[in-house]
Amino acid sequence: MDHTTNLILPSLLASDWSNIDAQVKRAASAGAQWLHLDVMDGNFVDNISFGPQMVQVVRNCTDMYLDVHLMIHRPDHYLERFIKAGAQNITIHVEANYDTSVAETLKRIRAAGLHCGVALHPNTPFEAALPFVQDIDLLLVMTVVPGFGGQPFMEKETMPKLAAARDYRDAHGLKFHLEVDGGIYTNTAPIAKQHGANLFVCGTSSFGPPDMNQSMRDLAASVA
Ligand code: DX5
Ligand code: ZN
Repeated sequence: MDHTTNLILPSLLASDWSNIDAQVKRAASAGAQWLHLDVMDGNFVDNISFGPQMVQVVRNCTDMYLDVHLMIHRPDHYLERFIKAGAQNITIHVEANYDTSVAETLKRIRAAGLHCGVALHPNTPFEAALPFVQDIDLLLVMTVVPGFGGQPFMEKETMPKLAAARDYRDAHGLKFHLEVDGGIYTNTAPIAKQHGANLFVCGTSSFGPPDMNQSMRDLAASVA
């Protein structure tokens, strides 16, 4: 799948955790191809979500593509566990602390046969990703401050950066996906698409409404 394909990625963080199997199947039957899993350590971000065991649980109940977003310090220390648990893309934050380095960690993710991405906090300029753009499959431009679902879309802080990333990618013949994450609804997704996004992480807007088939249809239509 190349970066011209638009996909809506439900974010498990926003689902009803009392029945993960049912929620994952709900997303799949609503047409999701990728599922976004937000790992939070209560250190890099001011919230704690879940770890590799949850990735394994989800892996065991679906063949959807698992897009794992590590909002953690020392992602390199924990990497093997997420690889073993069945992640297919692993995205790491350039702002996190590493025992080794971002570059080394991206190399390891790819060596394990997975796709890899780097994520940028809304306050982090695109330039911080430049050292890695030749070696990633995905650039995640956070459109909220990482840590919580249900926050408002940060348009002015993040759309110029997204467009700059798209322009740089296209000018240099690179092929990475551009993913946005946080505050993505039918009114904000088109704005992100206009600025270059093709992967749209939707937590509240996809899992939130009672009819997920309808919410996924509406979100997909908003970026068609
Ligand atoms: C925030 C996470 C997002 C979040 C989605 O740190 O990375 O994926 O779950 O947020 P909403 O609910 O705004 O779609
Ligand atoms: Zn996320």
